[in-house]
Amino acid sequence: MRHDHLITSKQLSRGDIETVLDYAAELDADPSTVADRHAGTLLGLLFFEPSTRTKMSFETAMKRLGGDVVDMGSIESSSVKKGETLADTVRVIEGYTDALVLRHPKQGAATMASEFVDVPLVNAGDGAGHHPTQTMLDLYTIRENAGLDDLTIGIMGDLKYGRTVHSLAYALTNFDTRQHFISPESLQLPREVVYDLHQRQDGTGIREHDSLEEVLPSLDVLYVTRIQRERFPDENEYQKVAGEYQIDADTLEAASDELTVMHPLPRVDEIAPEIDETDYAAYFQQAHNGVPVRMALLDLLLSDDKRIGGDDDE
Ligand code: CP
Repeated sequence: MRHDHLITSKQLSRGDIETVLDYAAELDADPSTVADRHAGTLLGLLFFEPSTRTKMSFETAMKRLGGDVVDMGSIESSSVKKGETLADTVRVIEGYTDALVLRHPKQGAATMASEFVDVPLVNAGDGAGHHPTQTMLDLYTIRENAGLDDLTIGIMGDLKYGRTVHSLAYALTNFDTRQHFISPESLQLPREVVYDLHQRQDGTGIREHDSLEEVLPSLDVLYVTRIQRERFPDENEYQKVAGEYQIDADTLEAASDELTVMHPLPRVDEIAPEIDETDYAAYFQQAHNGVPVRMALLDLLLSDDKRIGGDDDE
């Protein structure tokens, strides 16, 4: 498959992932090789939800490739406020730009929008759905710190609404991994995701827990997530789980010295600041990796001769 749009990590084969990660490593080592590669190219940024990392690292990546961005700006200052549909908005902005990056609160919005445009469209997060470019930088960070095969990872927190979790879990089924999902019962992975993961990977590689304690000593990576307050239909339900599953120095006493702690950020109170300066912490490195990874992805999506593809695709 050659990908015109990047909507979910389910699209990506192991070959696709390795192509992106290897290329990102090249660009990380020497970004000057592509400094003018996309001169004149314009990337359209359509963020219908707040973002710091994704939006700014896409902008940095496009500029480091020699191109530029056109930003729709806030909903308040755009014609979305007048009731313009997403389909109309993307059809208009496609006429101004060479590729689109879309973040939207509704799950499935990126799939729908991609049906209305011919330029590459990248899903930068669709509600509780997927966030495939976050996954690519997560995989890059895991590969740097622990390797992607023979990996034991704990993914903890809001597994119901956390789109980074859904995308990462699917992508990891391309590798030899044991995935432990740790959450309160009310925030477990959606059942259809668990079913899919079992289909994609030997079921022994997928386990669910309500406590970190029982699995922490076996983990190579602990991926912590924020409780997605904005997705709860009822604030009272959020308050019941807020503050659960926090990590501090005491928590990590039972961990391996080699443990890597990750978080897609932003964090609220899931990881105590005392962890930041320890060898466990990889979450700021993870955020920095967004630039070379998104440079690689953009170049592969925008270049006719170097698009992501392989023989082992779905
Ligand atoms: N990790 C992530 O998607 O961060 P932003 O919401 O700041 O883009």
